[in-house]
Amino acid sequence: MPIDTILAIDTSCDETSVAVTHRRRVISNVLSSQVELHKKYGGVFPTDAKRAHQEKIDHVVNEALTRSHLNLEQIDAIAVTQGPGLAPALEVGIAKAKELAKQFQKPLIAVNHMQGHLLSPLAQNSKGISSIDFDETNSSNFPALSLLASGGHTELVVIKKIGDYTVIGRTRDDAAGEAYDKVARMLGLGYPGGEIIELLAKQGNSQAFDFPIPMAPEPGLDFSFSGLKTAVMYQLKSLQHTSTKQTQTGGQAFLDKQIICDVAASFQRVLIHSLIIKTKRAVKKIQPKAVWLGGGVGANTQLRSQLRHMLQPFKLKLYAPYPKKLYTDNAAMIGIAAWYQAQRGEFITDIDSLDRKPNLDL
Ligand code: KG4
Ligand code: ZN
Repeated sequence: MPIDTILAIDTSCDETSVAVTHRRRVISNVLSSQVELHKKYGGVFPTDAKRAHQEKIDHVVNEALTRSHLNLEQIDAIAVTQGPGLAPALEVGIAKAKELAKQFQKPLIAVNHMQGHLLSPLAQNSKGISSIDFDETNSSNFPALSLLASGGHTELVVIKKIGDYTVIGRTRDDAAGEAYDKVARMLGLGYPGGEIIELLAKQGNSQAFDFPIPMAPEPGLDFSFSGLKTAVMYQLKSLQHTSTKQTQTGGQAFLDKQIICDVAASFQRVLIHSLIIKTKRAVKKIQPKAVWLGGGVGANTQLRSQLRHMLQPFKLKLYAPYPKKLYTDNAAMIGIAAWYQAQRGEFITDIDSLDRKPNLDL
């Protein structure tokens, strides 16, 4: 029996997500965010995340099924994120997937979360329409180059075909999204940082501060963002020092809103420039048929428009997920990846033995 309709679960970080997919079509994609819970700490606390996933998972499974107008009997397989991610968080999704697979006697598929992000541009809406015209059986679509930029990863990946991936560049320290989140925390903007920094950057002068472009002089395809983060930190210290002296209060100096926008814009310009330099270098080296984009940082409009601009002279298209919800963590991308795995016969043979892999590589 072909495996087409999949119930997929992702609890890798701070979103409890369950989706129903049919091949590449997203039938339902339900998310329950823990952002409010983690905002007060400015980041995700694994044990709190686990508790929140446990509280929400049944409701999110039911909601995904309700919205798909299907019941579990009509589902062909259960898919779940095995890693990478936070171990206590991953455990919740895996336990639920095992339970459902056993109870309803469905095949179980374990998915690499980053493969989900990588394949997210292929998603079609419930009517089967997608933002790109893509046929996976056509070899002229390969090799492709994927830029994955999320909160935990920043990677350049060669896709020889679906299921055959080689990481050719990765971050040596912080991920791009992590840098956004850390800079946002320094600016007192809360968690997560990417979206708010993008918003404030629109009102800022991106040339106001001259932060160093990470790894630009180095020849390879690796990234590094912790130096940029540190440069922002020193800049803020110096601005606060000046502002304290000016106000002569002697206490904590609060930065002017315009300065915050200028720092956000300058930081973003440099971070995006670094992503573009390395992606361009990889394009020249690999000569891909298209560039695919995935991960939360891909939601950034500036990044996408600069990528498209960079690709123009190469006559290459950017394959980016649509709608926006598919950039950040979601279970629909896990369902799509699982459908391809099912075609390759990649099922879990011993359900009880499935365990989380927090550091799983592509
Ligand atoms: O892919 P994702 O949801 O989770 C991981 O797998 O890590 O990515 C989350 C990251 C966060 O660091 C968040 O700040 C960043 O994506 N992000 C953005 C934007 N929206 C989310 N970064 C830049 N610009 C955005 N608009
Ligand atoms: Zn993710």
